[in-house]
Amino acid sequence: MMRSIFSAIIFLVLTRVVYAIDPRWGQGCTYIDRTEQIYCFGGEPFSENSQQILVYALNITGNSVLDLSEPQWTDIPGDPNGIRPSAASRFTFTGFPGTDTFYIQGGIVCTSCNYNSGFKYSVSSNQWNQTNKNKPVVDASSALVNDILYSFGGQTSPLTGYDQSNTTYRNTVYYINAKTGADGPSVKPQNETQLPPFTWASSMVYSYVYRSLFIFGGKQLSATEVTASMSDITVVSPQTGVYSKWKNIRSTSGSLPPARWGHSTIIDSSNRTVVMFGGCNDSGKAMNDLWLFNLDDAVWSPQETTGTPPTPRCRHSVVVLGKYMLVLFGGNDGTFNSDINVALDMTTWKWTNAPTNILPSDSSPPIDFPNSSSPQGSEGINEGGDSSSNISGGAIAGIVIGSIVGEDSSSLCLRNETDI
Ligand SMILES: *[C@@H]1O[C@H](CO)[C@@H](O)[C@H](O)[C@H]1NC(C)=O
Ligand SMILES: *[C@@H]1O[C@H](CO)[C@@H](O)[C@H](O)[C@H]1NC(C)=O
Ligand SMILES: *[C@@H]1O[C@H](CO)[C@@H](O)[C@H](O)[C@H]1NC(C)=O
Ligand SMILES: *[C@@H]1O[C@H](CO)[C@@H](O)[C@H](O)[C@H]1NC(C)=O
Ligand SMILES: *[C@@H]1O[C@H](CO)[C@@H](O)[C@H](O)[C@H]1NC(C)=O
Ligand SMILES: *[C@@H]1O[C@H](CO)[C@@H](O)[C@H](O)[C@H]1NC(C)=O
Ligand SMILES: *[C@@H]1O[C@H](CO)[C@@H](O)[C@H](O)[C@H]1NC(C)=O
Ligand SMILES: *[C@@H]1O[C@H](CO)[C@@H](O)[C@H](O)[C@H]1NC(C)=O
Ligand SMILES: *[C@@H]1O[C@H](CO)[C@@H](O)[C@H](O)[C@H]1NC(C)=O
Repeated sequence: MMRSIFSAIIFLVLTRVVYAIDPRWGQGCTYIDRTEQIYCFGGEPFSENSQQILVYALNITGNSVLDLSEPQWTDIPGDPNGIRPSAASRFTFTGFPGTDTFYIQGGIVCTSCNYNSGFKYSVSSNQWNQTNKNKPVVDASSALVNDILYSFGGQTSPLTGYDQSNTTYRNTVYYINAKTGADGPSVKPQNETQLPPFTWASSMVYSYVYRSLFIFGGKQLSATEVTASMSDITVVSPQTGVYSKWKNIRSTSGSLPPARWGHSTIIDSSNRTVVMFGGCNDSGKAMNDLWLFNLDDAVWSPQETTGTPPTPRCRHSVVVLGKYMLVLFGGNDGTFNSDINVALDMTTWKWTNAPTNILPSDSSPPIDFPNSSSPQGSEGINEGGDSSSNISGGAIAGIVIGSIVGEDSSSLCLRNETDI
C-alpha cells in the first residue's frame, strides 16, 4: 500500500516534458491510439544510469500541425520496485493495436543485467508485466498479424544477458501469441533444405493478399558473413510452412537497391507495395534512400521525394500515422539521432517536419501508394507459396510498425564486444 502510493507520487513528480531525448538507435517506437501518443522505449548507447527504465511519450495533438523540429517528449519513469525489463536495444518490439500495450523481448542488455524474456507494458498503468520466459533474441525482424507476432532470424548471444557462452543463430520464423504472451513453436518448414541462411538485422512485412511474410536484407551467415542482396527475398507462408525465395527480382532503374541491414520496411494498405527506407550498407555506411517494392511485379523502383529527407541512418524506427511515415532516431557511423526528424507524406512523397491532419480519421480512406492498385498477377514468381486466396481475419488498424534491427560493425559499435 505504502509502496503504491509512493510510486504514484514518484510518477507524478518525475513525469516531465523534455524537448529532446538522448540520441540513440535500436529503440522501439509505436503509436497508441487510445492516448494519441507515440511511445518509445530503449535503444543504445545505454545511459550511465541504465537501471532507470524510461518510456518516452510524444503527444500527437489531434489534427493540428505537429512540430517535429522541436518535439516535446514526456519521460515516464517506471516503478523502481516493480517488474520491468532491463535497459535494452535491438529487441523484438510491437505495439498491439486497439490496446494500450506494447511488447518487447530480448535485445542486448546493459552490462550485468538480466536478460529480457517477454515483457508487456501498459501505458495507462505505467506497469510492465512479464508474459513469458522465452530465450532472448537480438536483431530478429518481426511482423504482427492479427494476434500473432511473427519473428524471423536473430541471435542469442552472451550480450543478451542469457547464460551461455556462445552465440546461436536462427533462420526460421517463430511466433508468440500476442494476447497471452504464450510461446509458439517455429513455423515448421515443409522442406528443411529450403531454409534461408542464418540471418539477423533484416526487416519483415506481412501481406494479407499474399498470405506471406516477406523478409528483406539483413546480415547472413553462410560460409562468411555477408549483407543480403535486395534480390534475395525470403517469402514464408506461416500457414503452410513453405519457405521460398522469389526469383527474377528486378529494378525499374536497372540497379537493385544497395544491400543493407538495419533498414525499415512497411507495407501499404493494398498489401501490395512495400516501402523501404535507409539502413546501413555492407561497409556500415548509412543511407537515406527510399524504394518501393511492388509485390505483384517483383520489381523495385527508387522513389523520388521532395523536401529534406532524414539524414542517413540505420537502426531507426518508423511509425505510420495516416498518410505519414515518421522516421525516429537511428544512427550513422558512430553518430546517433535524437530527432524524429521528418515525416514522409506518402501521397505526395514529400518530407516535412510539420505534418498536418496527422491522425487518420474514421472517414478517411486507407492509403494506397501510387501504382500499387494495379495488380498484374504473380504467376511464376512465387515458388509454391499460397498467393491466390485471401486471408480472413482482423486488421492491423491502419498502423504499421516497421521492425528495425541492426547489427554491429566495428565502426558503429559503442560497446566493446566482438562476438555479435
Ligand atoms: C495532448 O495535447 C492535447 C492538445 O494540446 C491536450 O488536450 C492533451 O491533454 C494532451 N495529452 C496529454 C496526455 O498530455
Ligand atoms: C501479468 O502476466 C501474468 C502472466 O501472463 C498474468 O497472469 C497476470 O494477470 C498479468 N498481470 C497483470 C497485472 O496484467
Ligand atoms: C556452444 O556452447 C555449448 C554449451 O557450452 C557447447 O555444447 C557447444 O559445443 C558450443 N557450440 C559452439 C559452436 O561452440
Ligand atoms: C526440398 O527442396 C530441395 C531443394 O529445393 C529439393 O531438391 C527437394 O526435392 C525438396 N524435397 C521435397 C521432399 O520436396
Ligand atoms: C492489408 O490487408 C488487410 C486485410 O484486407 C487490411 O485489413 C489491412 O488494412 C491492409 N493493410 C495493412 C497495412 O495491413
Ligand atoms: C557503402 O557506402 C559508402 C558511402 O556511400 C561507399 O563508399 C561504400 O563503397 C559502400 N560500401 C558498399 C559495400 O557498398
Ligand atoms: C508508377 O507509374 C509510373 C508512371 O506510369 C512509372 O514510371 C513508375 O515506374 C511506376 N512505379 C512503380 C513502383 O510501379
Ligand atoms: C480476394 O479478394 C479480392 C478483393 O476482395 C476478390 O476480388 C477476390 O475474388 C478474392 N480472391 C479469393 C481467391 O478469394
Ligand atoms: C576491448 O577489449 C579488449 C579485450 O579486453 C581490449 O584489448 C581492447 O583494448 C578493448 N577495446 C576498446 C576500444 O576498449
